[in-house]
Amino acid sequence: MRIYCTKDYKEMSRKAANLISAQVIIKPECVLGLATGSTPIGIYDQLVEWYHKNDIDFSEVTTVNLDEYRGLTKENDQSYYYFMHTHLFDRVNIRPDHSFIPDGTCEDSEFECRRYENQIRSLGGIDMQLLGLGRNGHIGFNEPSDSFAQVTHCVDLTQSTIDANKRFFASEADVPRQAYTMGIGTILQAKKILLVASGEDKAEAVKNTLFGPITPYVPASILQIHPDVTIVADEAALSLC
Ligand code: GLP
Repeated sequence: MRIYCTKDYKEMSRKAANLISAQVIIKPECVLGLATGSTPIGIYDQLVEWYHKNDIDFSEVTTVNLDEYRGLTKENDQSYYYFMHTHLFDRVNIRPDHSFIPDGTCEDSEFECRRYENQIRSLGGIDMQLLGLGRNGHIGFNEPSDSFAQVTHCVDLTQSTIDANKRFFASEADVPRQAYTMGIGTILQAKKILLVASGEDKAEAVKNTLFGPITPYVPASILQIHPDVTIVADEAALSLC
């Protein structure tokens, strides 16, 4: 596990964007696993800036997203589909038929989860998976639980996640209670993992992820056994380490 400590959020974003850019240079037809949440926004902004300078080309890249709220349509501005289009897809040359996100409107959760897991497999797996970190140590929407979920599945969001994410919605009642997410097994099969974290409110989760016991109660702690993990976090997020 490599850990980069950066001064602040801006530097964290730049460093992580550099690592993604290196992946695309080494393998232009790579499969990038992407994440949502507020943390990766600076990374996407940086990639867009480099795209406009012709320093990165996404024309052969395929992307797969970690998760999606169940029940939100693509037009809903809180859906992860909308987020990805706003922050990245509509601003660079990623081909529309080369980006994949679970379909939050599919009511048959078993069907949708199986379909999405097969989709990732049919792409030949993920070369680099970007991950944010929930305050409770979740990755994607793999919430603390008594076992690690293997594959893409439907989860009930915990109160801690609903509380953390309600800032993006008009009211807490509007926060979806369920989501589709890649499983821990899906994530761990990625060849490389890039975890980013910023701010003091992530410090406890970062400490437990890096140095705590490997337990499904801190889903990100399983990254300790992955052979190629890079953490890019700012001083505040690493302040308890
Ligand atoms: C959501 C997403 C996660 C993300 C987490 C942290 O729950 N499903 O993938 O890592 O939020 O978000 P933020 O970066 O806004 O703290």
